[in-house]
Amino acid sequence: MKKIVFIACIFLCYSTNAQRIVNYDESKIPEFTLPVALEMENGNKISSISEWEEKRRPEILNLFEEKVYGKIPGALNMTSYKVAESDDHAMDDTAIRKQVVLKFSKNNKELDINILIYIPKNNKRAPLFVGYNFYGNHTIVNEKEVFITNSWVGNNEKFGIKNHKASENSRGIRTYRWAVDKIIEAGYGIATIYYGEVDPDKNDFSDGIHPLFYDTNQSKPKSNEWGSISAWAWGLTKAMDYFEKDADIDNSKVIVMGHSRLGKTSLWAGATDQRFAVVISNNSGCGGAALSRRSIGETVKIMNTSFPHWCNENYKYYNDKVDELPVDQHMLISLMAPRPVYIASAQDDKWADPKGEFLSGYYASPVYNLFGKKGIISSEIPKVNQPIHNDIGYHIRTGKHDVTDFDWEQYIQFANKHLY
Ligand code: GCU
Repeated sequence: MKKIVFIACIFLCYSTNAQRIVNYDESKIPEFTLPVALEMENGNKISSISEWEEKRRPEILNLFEEKVYGKIPGALNMTSYKVAESDDHAMDDTAIRKQVVLKFSKNNKELDINILIYIPKNNKRAPLFVGYNFYGNHTIVNEKEVFITNSWVGNNEKFGIKNHKASENSRGIRTYRWAVDKIIEAGYGIATIYYGEVDPDKNDFSDGIHPLFYDTNQSKPKSNEWGSISAWAWGLTKAMDYFEKDADIDNSKVIVMGHSRLGKTSLWAGATDQRFAVVISNNSGCGGAALSRRSIGETVKIMNTSFPHWCNENYKYYNDKVDELPVDQHMLISLMAPRPVYIASAQDDKWADPKGEFLSGYYASPVYNLFGKKGIISSEIPKVNQPIHNDIGYHIRTGKHDVTDFDWEQYIQFANKHLY
């Protein structure tokens, strides 16, 4: 009997994880050597800010573009924007709400991106958090005026999302993840976009922003070109273009924040667009803050297999050869320097490798030191719920993979400390 149960268990593990063998054991991490952030590919050492800015930073950025997230195939500015709806008495009269549509067109194709924005009434030129949401702008607040997206949405029985269409059923279902009241009270604005409007999150490049850039007969990006994470990051930079035109927003204080796959996205957006003053990654894991070479929890291979559209084709070459990668994720963090960056983990989120997320901050610190900034001093992960708010911020909180009020409280305090 015992034997049958054991065999059934093994079968289940394999079938549910589809060829995945997930390691959660620190002692089984293969030995590895990280590429050094302050050393060029040719071995030359970097010892000044100008060498970093002129040589190594562009080199690292290019490596991430070519081998991980993918290059954007060209420039595209918004054709126009319009404030489609606004209200000066939103959120119990504490905020101004605006719903702004950005319009893009190229190759006879069009794309609209809807941004939902709240500006605190007590702060007319407000610093602003911006981040994507997973199920539509109408899910983050309980306000009936917030538009429901027309784009493809992932089905979710619990949220009443069927046939990939959002509806009233899901209004307000994610309010617990967005501390909008707290953010407004602290004098910050908050802007959000449904990520599927920029690129629906499925392994298919026929919709979203990608086709606007295709040559005749092209149906997917080239092997070094953008996957979805890069497309989503592009969307954030376009939102930033709009923020620069909105007099209610202090565009020198825009904080880009994202959770999970959208945390990977906020990091890539912060790396590619230095107008973001602060960058926050919440439980971003593999392909985000976690070091790829640790291969614990989700690995590059697992991510590239389950979500082949997130990064570019070239990245798949490294599925079984992460050691050959000329970059690791601490170098992504280093691209934020000298701007404040915050990495947040959750204790029960082993899939995202909290320790690997922390160590990325630690190994990015020498680049911060070059600028006279303070990164992570000790290689030992702090105790739970004991945040570090240096120029590189970090916390591991109790609980699961999620965004909580505790996380937001840290982000607000961190922004207060570093932006003023
Ligand atoms: C999956 C995926 C992660 C990702 C997460 C999310 O768990 O494996 O890489 O971060 O989804 O976005 O929620």
